[in-house]
Amino acid sequence: MKIKNSNSEKGTEALGYELGLLLKNEPKIVILLDGELGSGKTTFTKGLAKAYGVTQIVNSPTYTIMKKYKTNDYKRTFYHLDLYRLDGVGSDFDLEEYIDGQGMIVVEWPFQVEDLLPRDYLLVKINKTSDYEREFTMTCVGYPCKRAVDYI
Ligand SMILES: Nc1ncnc2c1ncn2[C@@H]1O[C@H](COP(=O)(O)OP(=O)(O)OP(=O)(O)O)[C@@H](O)[C@H]1O
Ligand SMILES: [Mg+2]
Repeated sequence: MKIKNSNSEKGTEALGYELGLLLKNEPKIVILLDGELGSGKTTFTKGLAKAYGVTQIVNSPTYTIMKKYKTNDYKRTFYHLDLYRLDGVGSDFDLEEYIDGQGMIVVEWPFQVEDLLPRDYLLVKINKTSDYEREFTMTCVGYPCKRAVDYI
């Protein structure tokens, strides 16, 4: 487990970028972003995507549940899921339906759906400690993110 802090939107994107660089060579990595409205999940995701090699602008996919981006070399895929609007829909949402293969998979509001959790994932819990301050608690469950969480 690792705790990091940011005191600006830029700082949060930079932290996402830093983490993204540490994870970009993993064939498959799931990152769950847990935090209240406006805590900075999408901002953090922008940094992750940039580090992964996505040149397109990453915006909140709230009304589409998922947006899929290719890296600039077209070799890898970045998935950005936002499960916020699944509130109350039940648990018929299957992450596997959306994610066929490999890549970096970032999920906002991951706990909207029961039993969504894959076996290996990196959980980033974001706490809004003031208007501009955010505290990030990173926990690696399973294998692929252990080293990244140690290094960051
Ligand atoms: N340290 C900070 N890190 C990130 N965002 C910050 C910070 N300080 C202030 N903000 C503001 O908080 C907001 C974060 O928005 P963002 O869309 O990233 O949140 P979110 O967690 O994705 O929200 P939602 O749950 O609606 O998807 C922005 O308006 C940003 O300017
Ligand atoms: Mg968001």
